[in-house]
Order: sequence, then C-alpha cells, then structure tokens
Amino acid sequence: MQTGTGQVLELILEDGDRYVRISCSPHLIPAPGQYLLANDGSGSPLAIPVFYSDSAPQGFIAAAPATADWSPGLLLHLRGPLGRGFSLPLAARRVGLVALDDAPVRLRGLIRPALKQDAAVVLVSNTTPEDLLDDVEVQPLSSLSDVLEWADYVAFDVARENLQELRERVRNRSRLAARTDAQVLIRTGIPCGGIADCGVCAVTLKSDWKLACKEGPVFHWRELD
Ligand code: FES
Repeated sequence: MQTGTGQVLELILEDGDRYVRISCSPHLIPAPGQYLLANDGSGSPLAIPVFYSDSAPQGFIAAAPATADWSPGLLLHLRGPLGRGFSLPLAARRVGLVALDDAPVRLRGLIRPALKQDAAVVLVSNTTPEDLLDDVEVQPLSSLSDVLEWADYVAFDVARENLQELRERVRNRSRLAARTDAQVLIRTGIPCGGIADCGVCAVTLKSDWKLACKEGPVFHWRELD
C-alpha cells in the first residue's frame, strides 16, 4: 500500500454512467476490483473510494464517485491500492461479467485482460455501456441463467443489501454451485479502508463475517454459498 498524489484529468459521461480519468504514479493504480481512497481537500473527514474501470495513459479510468463533485485539475491525495481484487484464471475462455444492481463500471476492468487471453466475454447488465469493445456481447439480466451455464468464470458486482437476492438467483438457476472460480465484488461503505477497523464494511458470509475493505471487496463464491 502506497500514498501519493493524483490529479483529475477528465470527466467522462457515457450513457448516464460517470467516469473520471485520474493521473497518478503506476504503483498506485488499482487492479480490477481493488480501490484507492482519495482525499480531495474538500474538508470532509471521509476519504472517497475510487474503483478501477479501465486503463488510460498516465493513470487509469475510475468509476466516478457518486458523492464527489470533482472537476478537471483537482488534486487528490491517494492511498492504495487497497483490498482484494478479481483474479481472472489464466485458463478462463468464457467469461461472464454480471452487474446485478448497478452499471457495470467496476467490472469493465476485466474486459481487456479477458480478451487478451482469448476469452469470449459476455456482459450481463440492464444498462448497456457505450463505447464497449466490439468483441463484448451484452445480455440483459433475464439471460443470467444461460450465461451462468455457459461461462467458465463469472465475476459479479452486487451491493451488500442485495447479496441474498444474488444467492437465490444463482442457487435456483445454475450449476454455479459446483464452480470454484466465480467471484463477487460486494459494494459497501468503506470509510476507513481498514485503518481504523470501524466495521462499517462488515459482510456476513457463510457462518462468519469479514471486512470488505481489506478481506474483499472481492470474495470467492465458495466463501458466500
Ligand atoms: S471500512 Fe473500516 S473496517 Fe472496513
């Protein structure tokens, strides 16, 4: 984990989804599923989590934080990369990316690595991002069952409050229970990033709970179900 300075270079609006291009040192760039905590000098005591969404010259493109009103030129104090990100298996050739309840902004970072290893990629989401690479197929959530049957690796993005809904959808409809390489990014508040052990990010798994900020936010499916 490092600290350093970054700068907002550009705000990007695509089909209602907001992204921000950030310049920073290469060692601060999070992997897909990881995040940085950003302090923007606004006086708020709470740092803002920033998730990786795509690569970009001099830095990366992040899902724009909903709570921040950033503009180009703004300097950020950054801490990270933090948390456990996705680990795309090298052998994966049929990759499903499933955004259950939000735009797939945090899953997009897996697209280029998957295509690079010659995997087919299907994005399951009720919002269709603009500017997707041509090789990516987009399906609505109603196709979830088919995609789960097809994929040999699945990455989910879900809010903590919808975790039970995800469990039920998957349990009822697919052979995913036998799969060992599905992963879930669980979105929670992560105000301290693990430094203060505040517990705000606690996630209940099988019979235990874990801190999403440092033991997640990406968990293996087998930890959940
Ligand atoms: S955000 Fe404080 S312990 Fe996880």
